Amino acid sequence: MTPLPTGRRLASGKVRDLYAAGGDRLLVVASDRISAFERVFPTHVPDKGRVLTAMSVFWFRELADVLPNHLVAWDGPLVPAPVRGRALVVERLDMLPVEAVVRGYLTGRGYSDYRRSGEVCGLALPPGLTESARLPEPIFTPSTKAKPGDKDENIDFDTFVSVLGRALAEEVREASLELYRRGAAHAAEQGLLLADTKFEFGIGATGGLVLADEVLTPDSARYWLADGHQPGVPQASFDKQHVRDWLVDPASGWDCVSPLPPLPPEVVTATRDRYLEAYHRITGLSLADWPRDPADLRQPASRLGQCGGAGDRRDPHREQDVHRPRRPAALQPR
Ligand SMILES: Nc1ncnc2c1ncn2[C@@H]1O[C@H](COP(=O)(O)OP(=O)(O)OP(=O)(O)O)[C@@H](O)[C@H]1O
Ligand SMILES: [Mg+2]
Repeated sequence: MTPLPTGRRLASGKVRDLYAAGGDRLLVVASDRISAFERVFPTHVPDKGRVLTAMSVFWFRELADVLPNHLVAWDGPLVPAPVRGRALVVERLDMLPVEAVVRGYLTGRGYSDYRRSGEVCGLALPPGLTESARLPEPIFTPSTKAKPGDKDENIDFDTFVSVLGRALAEEVREASLELYRRGAAHAAEQGLLLADTKFEFGIGATGGLVLADEVLTPDSARYWLADGHQPGVPQASFDKQHVRDWLVDPASGWDCVSPLPPLPPEVVTATRDRYLEAYHRITGLSLADWPRDPADLRQPASRLGQCGGAGDRRDPHREQDVHRPRRPAALQPR
C-alpha cells in the first residue's frame, strides 16, 4: 500500500489505490502490482505503475476530442511527491457497473465464446474464423464488472441495456467503438494492432458520460506486432500474457487454488521490458522523461493548440488543463 501524508484511502483494486483528494476529486495511485486470473502476485514489476499512468495520460490527451475524461492533473501541487509519476488526480465519478470491451480481433475469452457458440456477447460472427483473426468490423462485447475475486461475465447488448437503460447503453457503445477506432488507427501508425481493449466510464457531476480508469494500457488492451500477425495461433502481445503463460505451465507449481507464487526474476524482467516497450512504441517517448512539463510532451501538430505544445508554454506547477470539448453529435445521448 502507498503510505501518503495526506488523503484518506477509500479503496484498493488489484492494481490501484484510491485516495480522497478533496472535493469531488480522487488521487488514483497505480502500484507495481500485477494480477492474473483475478488474483495479485506477491511480486511487483518495477515501473509498471508509471507506465500505466504515463500511457493513460497520453491516451486521455490523444482522445480528448472523442469524449470528456476524468483526468484533472498528473503533476504539480495536487500530486504528492512520493507518488509523482504513478498517480493521477481525477474527477470522482459514479462508475457504471459494467466494462466496455471492444474487439477488433478474435482472441482470449471472445475466441473461447465463439468456438463454443459462434457468437460473442450475442453477436453472431461469420463461421470459420480462426484464433487471432481480424473481425469484419470491431464489435462491442460488454461485460459485468465483478466484485473483487469474482470473474467478469460477458453479456449481450440487451442485458447491457437492462443495466444502463437504452440511451446510456447506446452512448457507451458508440463512444467505445469510436475510442477503439481512434486507438487502433494510432497503433497502426506505430506498427501495432490493437486486438481488443476494455474501457470504463462513469457519470460526472453534471450528469454526462465521462471516460475513466486507465485507457489503452497493456493492462487494459492487447497490442500485437502488425508485422508478425499470423491468424490461426495465439499472438505474442505486450500485456501480461507472458506472466499467465508462465503461471499455467506446470513448472510454476501453481495448483489453480493456492495464492499466486512469486514471479521468478527473469519473468519480472521480461514483463517489465514488455511494458516499457509498449509505452515507447505507442507514445514515441521514453519513460525516463516522465513526468515532465506537459507543454513539452510531443503532440501531433493538429493537437498542439488544444493540449499545449511547444508554442504554448504553461506553468508546469499549476493544475493541468485537460480540455473538455463538446461531444460530436454522434455521441450525444439519443
Ligand atoms: N474517476 C473515477 N471515479 C471513481 N472510481 C474510479 C474512477 N476511475 C477508476 N475508478 C475505479 O477505481 C478502481 C481502480 O482500481 P484497479 O484498476 O486496481 O481495479 P481492478 O481491481 O483492476 O479492477 P478491474 O480488473 O475491473 O480493473 C476501479 O474499480 C475503477 O472502476
Ligand atoms: Mg483496473
